[in-house]
Amino acid sequence: MSNESGCPMSRRGLLAGAATVVAGSALAPARASAAGTGAAAPPPTIHTAVRPDRFGRLFDLPPFANPTTQVKTALRTLGAPGGIMDAKDDLAAGPLGLILNPGANTDNPNHTAGMTFVGQFIDHDITLDATSPLGVPTAPEATINRRTPAFDLDSVYGSGPFGDPLLYEDDKLRLKAGRRGEHEDVPRLPDGTALIGDSRNDENVAVNGIHAAFIAAHNQLLTSGAATTFKDARRQLTWHWQWIVLNEFLPATLGTQLPTALSRGDQRLFPRGCHPFIPVEFQSAAYRFGHSQVRPSYRMNFTGGPDGGQRFAFVFDPSQITAADPSDMQGGIAGAGRHIGWPTFFNFGGDRAQWVRPNKTIDTKLSTPLFHLPPKTVRGPEDVLALAQRNLLRHLTWSLPSGQAIAKKLGLPVLSTDQLADVGRVYAPFAKSTPLWFYVLREAELLGAGKRLGPLGGLLVGGTLIGLLLADPSGYLNAAPGWKPTLGSTPGKFGMSDLLDYAGVGGVR
Ligand code: HEM
Repeated sequence: MSNESGCPMSRRGLLAGAATVVAGSALAPARASAAGTGAAAPPPTIHTAVRPDRFGRLFDLPPFANPTTQVKTALRTLGAPGGIMDAKDDLAAGPLGLILNPGANTDNPNHTAGMTFVGQFIDHDITLDATSPLGVPTAPEATINRRTPAFDLDSVYGSGPFGDPLLYEDDKLRLKAGRRGEHEDVPRLPDGTALIGDSRNDENVAVNGIHAAFIAAHNQLLTSGAATTFKDARRQLTWHWQWIVLNEFLPATLGTQLPTALSRGDQRLFPRGCHPFIPVEFQSAAYRFGHSQVRPSYRMNFTGGPDGGQRFAFVFDPSQITAADPSDMQGGIAGAGRHIGWPTFFNFGGDRAQWVRPNKTIDTKLSTPLFHLPPKTVRGPEDVLALAQRNLLRHLTWSLPSGQAIAKKLGLPVLSTDQLADVGRVYAPFAKSTPLWFYVLREAELLGAGKRLGPLGGLLVGGTLIGLLLADPSGYLNAAPGWKPTLGSTPGKFGMSDLLDYAGVGGVR
């Protein structure tokens, strides 16, 4: 459904026009009851026209299920520790043991390990829901997105040197940086709190390291004289970032055909000219595919281990939650030896290529540490510390349609109930009306061989991300079509390894 300019807009949005429709108003149309799940539940009833600073919907389809106690219990079972989505990693094998014997965490030959954290850094650049209640139907159009729906690095720059002066040096040009031992960190307040545009970029050491590298790259642009003003340094870094998203991250995640088609005018999701917003189908389901790429453990670096050697670490280890100098990769703590040695995470070529490790496949298994998150990483009910449960309950928050309903609407192949038999054994109706996140993961597993997203996940992720790039008047696609990167070792080429080298952090360290 679209408005006069062809922009995606919900049926409720159309009826409401630009005005807010108050809960219970006669103007708020009842949403169809969930497919095959019986009585209608009270629909989310506050709707406004889609706005860039609010979430919105792409599809006006019935929810996959109603928020009954039975459905909530089924979602919790589906995402439970030890349930069908838990990779059941043998944590007793230790971080190195799980690298040598990855078990259910199979390798994706198309992605290096660091792409997961690029994906997380992308998420934190464009979307932040800090208010919606978990598992309680809520109107996306009435919920604030605290990030701008654009690749503008607001997670790094905040509101700029005058809006967020604490992030900047006194010269109002350079971003403040921090140190952990000999290596870079994000700046911190005396109590350890990260002083950055989005605190989620201190959620684990790897995404923290990417943030710290962006700070270093911004400052390097000024030190080297490549930029002389804040505005120009930000523009250059932001365009290089957009280049990475379009030319490195998306082809790796979707394959090469779909990004090309979407960039050249496939407008199935975001007709050109529409103002951008973050759709909840993307935010709570499709884009959370990245949670399945997180490995239980990594080689964190080459010099921070015992005796100054390699350091292997669990991404999270519940026994380390209160440790002053934790051995895992949790964020928030700036101990020496807790930096990232990037040649494990990205392919730098040359001598450093020998160190690179693959990502985990995109599938319906999540690493076991993600079922026991450190409480500081979640907002809201801290009794729900399994990430899979949070993702699935969020489907009720937004009354998301099923994967099947959206695939059918878009004329894409629909997975059969046989292909979803395991989720049907958890709760029979889910085999025909599957939570979108699970559906996208199963599609990637079956139709993308775990190496890339399937047709529906690819379109939701690619259509949204490329839609945001195309809708941004100050992005390079609009402001300077034909622009090519300038900061890499080979002119016109640029990837994460180039950015890390430019920031001076790409060594085997
Ligand atoms: C160790 C890595 C990660 C951890 C611990 C993590 C954890 C979380 C948590 C706790 C939430 C909030 C869940 C909720 O209450 O609904 C969340 C949200 C989200 N995550 Fe992750 N995540 C990780 C990596 C990723 C990756 C790799 C991606 C995508 C490629 C991703 C995409 C998202 C998105 C889109 C949201 C919703 C953001 C919002 O609008 O508020 N995450 N994640």
